[in-house]
Amino acid sequence: MIDNETMRSILARRSYKKFDGRPIDDEALETIVTAGLYAPTGMNRQPWHFTVIRSKEALEKFGAARKSLPLPPGVPAAAVAAMGDPMRNAPVMIIVSGKDGGTTPQDCCLAMENMFIAAASLGIMSGWDHATVMDLFKHNPELRAELIPEGYTVYAASFFGYPGPEVKDRGERKGTVEYK
Ligand SMILES: Cc1cc2nc3c(=O)[nH]c(=O)nc-3n(C[C@H](O)[C@H](O)[C@H](O)COP(=O)(O)O)c2cc1C
Repeated sequence: MIDNETMRSILARRSYKKFDGRPIDDEALETIVTAGLYAPTGMNRQPWHFTVIRSKEALEKFGAARKSLPLPPGVPAAAVAAMGDPMRNAPVMIIVSGKDGGTTPQDCCLAMENMFIAAASLGIMSGWDHATVMDLFKHNPELRAELIPEGYTVYAASFFGYPGPEVKDRGERKGTVEYK
């Protein structure tokens, strides 16, 4: 394998559940978002909308809404309390939604992956949170209406921040590639 800066960023990217709370500055955030905007899209439709939650007020509001969600079946309240801050100490959450039609789901996920890799190149990690956000919007349509344009579907939502505690080794990736 060729070792270059792009490959190092791709391999450095990891999913984190907790962040260390340090803010992401404007230039770094703009870099991450620009990477998303330059993802490929079917017929160059760019059918997406990026919602970047980063102000103290927006993070607190989103966090409070998360906290008031009913617990998923089988999850003890103590486990949720142990997570601490409902926003996982992340200074930014980005939600990618899209106007349906064509290749919108693929386009939106490619945008998110571009943002993950650009973030990793800056030492900023990410954590997928799509299921909780979908649940949150189901329970809180007013918040959804504030954050997501009408008629758009949410395809990806992730925290971004400087990494918190070490994550488990994800293991080697092998066995699913076939060269013909
Ligand atoms: C579509 C999708 C859904 C995911 N859902 C969750 C999730 O609900 N909770 C979570 O902690 N991680 C979630 N992840 C992150 C994966 O667990 C993670 O990517 C995988 O374990 C490999 O680890 P790595 O990202 O550090 O390489 C999700 C990732 C993807 C692509």
